Amino acid sequence: MSENLTPRKLSEIKLESKQRLLTGFSEMDNVLGGGIVKGSVVLLAGDPGIGKSTLLLQIASHIKNPTLYLTGEESEEQIKIRATRILKETKNSQLLLLSLTNTDAALEVFAKIKPALIVVDSIQTMESFNVSGMSGSIGQVRYAASTFIKFAKTFSVPIILIGHVTKEGMVAGPMILSHMVDTVLFLEGEKYAKTRILKSLKNRFGPVDEVGVFSMEENGISEIKNPEQLFLTLPASEQARITTSGSVLVATMEGTRAFLVEVQALVVSSHLPMSRRVAAGIDYKRLELLLAVLQKHCNLPLGTMDVFFNVAGGLKLSDPAADLGICLAIFSSFKNLSLSKTVAISEVGLLGELRAVEFLDKRIKQAKKLGFKNIITSVRHKTINDVIKSFNSS
Ligand code: TYD
Ligand code: MG
Repeated sequence: MSENLTPRKLSEIKLESKQRLLTGFSEMDNVLGGGIVKGSVVLLAGDPGIGKSTLLLQIASHIKNPTLYLTGEESEEQIKIRATRILKETKNSQLLLLSLTNTDAALEVFAKIKPALIVVDSIQTMESFNVSGMSGSIGQVRYAASTFIKFAKTFSVPIILIGHVTKEGMVAGPMILSHMVDTVLFLEGEKYAKTRILKSLKNRFGPVDEVGVFSMEENGISEIKNPEQLFLTLPASEQARITTSGSVLVATMEGTRAFLVEVQALVVSSHLPMSRRVAAGIDYKRLELLLAVLQKHCNLPLGTMDVFFNVAGGLKLSDPAADLGICLAIFSSFKNLSLSKTVAISEVGLLGELRAVEFLDKRIKQAKKLGFKNIITSVRHKTINDVIKSFNSS
């Protein structure tokens, strides 16, 4: 490839409006900032088995011009079997499948076909004799990515790279490509729940922190356009009727949307010398920290209790505004007091103070929209102890 060696003046550089390919999922297009930009390279990362191949097979077959699906993980027959399961009809599909793991050979195929979109499933299976190391090694992954990125830029062909990421792999695995690609998307969810959240962690051509919500069904992945009620185990009207203790609602932001999510705690006296703490959906350390706050500032004797914590719907909560809800779910279970109609929105500091959170109005609006009136925020109460006292006295 010959490179242009003449620098140009800023004023001489023309901005072309980027042409975008629509994916057939408006949730996906939104996350990308309006579709896939021609010539851009997207890394789609996520746990193995979460649905990356399924999502991209559907997208690739939606696009009307020929798309190339390069598979190093499954045979062409295996993909055909999946395609017949999820696509309404495969007869008119313009999708081209190729099972290949050699990076340099793949490049030749790309150059010959110049498809409208290329999917590489996955970047960890690609290998080249030009680099030492096995497929999946940092050298091989980086070589394949840089080769494909160069191709994408030169021929304006968008490429989506699939990368399997495990929790430990966040730094060492394909995430090392983050700085090389234009966009990094993350597909997440609990394997045994249907909901999938697509997040953008980096995007040169659109917003970051935008999310799309999908559902993994028997016959493929589908988008959920009105996900308001999604993370409530029960419809809002029934949620309010639960009389069991240990359940509280929190209002969490995912991108620009507010969701009500049910959090659950189970607190029982421990028979073990070291009481157990089990956290699903939140960071274990955060649970420990909030338990310590409750113990110190609210005098709750939780040291001898086993505490189990769960976020309904398979969502992972990292929003600090959920702190108060986590505390109240624990308090509710400990005291056998039902708080299922309560929506708690506040960060909790180490001193037990309630802290203001971003987008409070949006969160409150969402809670009210679903019919919840009992909303606790840092506006009325100053500390976690204030909140708990208000329940003890009522
Ligand atoms: P897959 O797309 O292969 O995941 P990834 O490429 O991220 O590893 O999805 C694998 C899981 O999804 C598998 O456990 C079966 C399930 N699945 C469905 O629930 N519905 C479907 O239509 C398909 C094709 C798979
Ligand atoms: Mg796969």
